Amino acid sequence: MRNIGIDIVENKRFNAFIDNPRKYSRILSAKEKDLFVQITNKSRKLEYLAGRFAAKEAVIKALAHTGYSFSYTAISVLNRSDGSPYVELENGTEFKILLSLSHSKDNSVAVAILVNGDE
Ligand SMILES: CC(C)(COP(=O)(O)OP(=O)(O)OC[C@H]1O[C@@H](n2cnc3c(N)ncnc32)[C@H](O)[C@@H]1OP(=O)(O)O)[C@@H](O)C(=O)NCCC(=O)NCCS
Repeated sequence: MRNIGIDIVENKRFNAFIDNPRKYSRILSAKEKDLFVQITNKSRKLEYLAGRFAAKEAVIKALAHTGYSFSYTAISVLNRSDGSPYVELENGTEFKILLSLSHSKDNSVAVAILVNGDE
């Protein structure tokens, strides 16, 4: 089964989250949090958090019907050395997911494609 998921969010929705560890800890995985706390630019923090949230929603949509469900914090959206995003799932599941992310000043959007849902 292959599948696709998409999500778009308003960045300002996360204004109250960026300086509140209790709130951003509900969204970010441990690896993402390590990176997030190193970001000093406020608008990049907002974009990072909004983008990760959109990406996780897109991944959850792509994984619907696989029989597996993941919390936000069990999904890590990380970046390769060229900046391109990739997904790591907790629990050792081997789903291969393609991800693309984009930000504007106001919005973040993500598309996720599950390519090996049969395995
Ligand atoms: C990658 C690129 C297209 C991003 O476009 P942009 O309009 O500036 O920014 P967007 O908001 O649309 O996209 C940003 C997201 O693209 C993704 N991205 C970054 N680099 C990427 C790449 N090489 N390939 C695919 N996606 C990439 C990231 O997920 C990023 O969001 P994040 O940092 O929050 O994870 C642009 O930076 C570019 O053309 N770079 C030159 C090509 C390149 O590979 N540069 C790497 C230098 S080593």
